[in-house]
Amino acid sequence: MTNMMNIMKDVIAFRRDLHRYPELSGEEYETSRKIQEKLAEYGIPYQTGFAGTGVLGIIEGDQPGPTVGLRADIDALPITEKTDEAFRSTIDGVMHACGHDAHTAMLLGTGRLLMAERHNIAGKVLLIFQPAEEDSPTGGAAQMLEDGVFAEHQPDVLVAQHVWPSLPAGQIGVVPGPIMGNSDRFQITVRGSGGHASMPHDTVDALAAANQIFTALQTIVSRNANPFDPAVITVGKMEGGYRYNVIADEVVMEGTIRTQSDAMKHIIKHRFHEVVQGVASSMQAEANIIYYDGYPATVNTERWARRVKQTAAREFGAQQVPEVSPSLGGEDFGRFLERYPGVYYWLGTSIGEGQKPLHDPGFMLDEAALEKGVTLMRQLALDILKDLKDGHYD
Ligand code: NI
Repeated sequence: MTNMMNIMKDVIAFRRDLHRYPELSGEEYETSRKIQEKLAEYGIPYQTGFAGTGVLGIIEGDQPGPTVGLRADIDALPITEKTDEAFRSTIDGVMHACGHDAHTAMLLGTGRLLMAERHNIAGKVLLIFQPAEEDSPTGGAAQMLEDGVFAEHQPDVLVAQHVWPSLPAGQIGVVPGPIMGNSDRFQITVRGSGGHASMPHDTVDALAAANQIFTALQTIVSRNANPFDPAVITVGKMEGGYRYNVIADEVVMEGTIRTQSDAMKHIIKHRFHEVVQGVASSMQAEANIIYYDGYPATVNTERWARRVKQTAAREFGAQQVPEVSPSLGGEDFGRFLERYPGVYYWLGTSIGEGQKPLHDPGFMLDEAALEKGVTLMRQLALDILKDLKDGHYD
């Protein structure tokens, strides 16, 4: 096996380079070029042009066999970094605040290891570098599929990992079934009619109506949702009004709806429309709703979730694979898992005290955990190929 220490040196250098020069969803041109450069350096054949900047690396084992696909997302977020890292973002307003720099670097390291041992591999390993994961509800996954990323090489199983700041560094979190949620998004424009603050009776106060809508929305989860089937409604932004003595004629509200099951998604979506329209009209206002169906829940195939647990426990010890609860975060990998069996798991990267969450301008990760990510990805690829070949999954 190629020397792990050298490989990790490269993985970390590559991650830091992406971190310095992050690119937004759909604009990952340099990132894509750098990935291709590395694949070429490692002698891994690849194809390009999926969802614009997406790349597919193809490692063919010496013997024929099944195909496993490993996926990393490559895009950054419109956030201005506020950390003191030596390699912090040099691009104002763009930051790798979700660890996709680490995912990309780890997948390259994994590919390098597997390429070096392809003589012992029966089957194929696909390295899937996916753009625009943060661009919900569009995302890069559906476009990659449409662009024929798997036209030539159909995967039997897909695997993805995500850095996870609430797990101690190096621990692995996975659950069978839904691990990430349905993630929908909405915008409500509440229209009234403006006027002088001293003459409310001649107006329809859009702020007053929006305020009632805001409050009533929170009763959907508490009154209409089965408490054993999780749901969240968050209004993240409300904007309206001009100045202290003018009654606002328009308020724009934006937010997100997270659920785990499709049944709950439909209940909440339906009630959302009823409540917004009903409350608006009771306040003599009008509401215009734009509702975006976002990423579907990421649903892990049971047997492959079990495979992650077993392989991780064997490699790192059972105490490194704690019981975890699913998240209602959105994840574009859900679109891949709608079409193919597979598994998505978390790699603990907590820096301990001072850890900021994903998507925070102060987000940092413990790079020491990345070796675990590479080790596990490689081992999973090998174990899954063997499982498939042997025709058993336990
Ligand atoms: Ni992410």
